[in-house]
Amino acid sequence: MQQYFETVAYLQNRAGEFMPEFGIILGTGLGALVNDLVIYDTIPYDEIPFFPVSTVESHSGKLILGELAGRKVIVMQGRFHYYEGYTMEQVAYPVRIMKMLGIQKLFVSNAAGGLNPEYNTSDLMVITDHINLQPTNPLIGKNLDELGPRFPDMSEPYDEELIHLAKIISKEEEIALQFGVYVSVPGPMLETKAEYRYLGLIGADAVGMSTVPEIIAARHMGLPCFAVSVITDMCVPGKIKKVILLDILEAAAKAEPRMTLLIKSLIERQPKTSNQ
Ligand code: HPA
Repeated sequence: MQQYFETVAYLQNRAGEFMPEFGIILGTGLGALVNDLVIYDTIPYDEIPFFPVSTVESHSGKLILGELAGRKVIVMQGRFHYYEGYTMEQVAYPVRIMKMLGIQKLFVSNAAGGLNPEYNTSDLMVITDHINLQPTNPLIGKNLDELGPRFPDMSEPYDEELIHLAKIISKEEEIALQFGVYVSVPGPMLETKAEYRYLGLIGADAVGMSTVPEIIAARHMGLPCFAVSVITDMCVPGKIKKVILLDILEAAAKAEPRMTLLIKSLIERQPKTSNQ
C-alpha cells in the first residue's frame, strides 16, 4: 500500500486542485479521444513513481488530466499488458491509482477480434460480460483489504445502467453498436483457427489481450465499469485473414470517431454530484 500512497501523493501534488470524476483507458490505436480533451497536464508514465512503463509501439504511455464534455477525467493513453512481461499487479496498478485519486466510474476501450459471425470489421461492441482466460489475475496473493474484499462479486462486471445508457445514445446519436461477451487471452500471438472456434463455442463474441485484468481490479474496489471493443479483424470461418498490426490500427482508426462520440456522450450524461 505504501507504493500506492507514494504514487497518489506524487500525482495529487502535480494535479493540485484537479479532482478527476472519471477514468478512461484507451486501447490499441484508440488514442485520438485525446484530441477532444481540454488538457490540463500530460504526465509520461516514466515520470510517475512506481508506474510501469509501456513498451508496445502503438501505445504512447501518458497519463492525461483534462476535461471531456465539461467533466474532469484522467485518461490513460496506453495500457499495460500481461504479454509484455508485467505482473498482473502492474497491469492493474494505474486503475487502483485512478480510484484512489477519486474517479467514480471507469471507461475502457480495446481492439478485439470478432468471433460472432454477425459482426464486421470496425464494429463497436459494448462488453456486457467477460471470460477470463488469462493465466492469472490481479487479485491473486494477499488481499489488500484497504482496496476491497477477498472474494469480490463478479455477477455484474459491466455496469447495467451504463450499458442501458449506451443503448439510448446508440439510437439518439445513430451509432451502431453490438453487445457481447469479451474473452481475454494472454497473447501475444494471435489465435489459431481451432482456438477461434473454441472461443466462439465457449460463449465469446470478441477476443482480445487486455481489459479483463483492469476490470477485475476495478470491481474489487467497487468501481462501476463500462468497456467497448473495436472489432479490428474477423475470426470466423471464411473471414479469417492473416492479422497484421497495421490492419488492426487502420480498423481501429476507422471506428475511433464513433468510439470517442460514445464515451463522450456517456460522460456528458453522468449525473453531477454535489461537489462538482
Ligand atoms: N485476437 C486477439 N486479440 C486481438 C485480435 C484477435 O484476433 N484482434 C485484435 N486484438
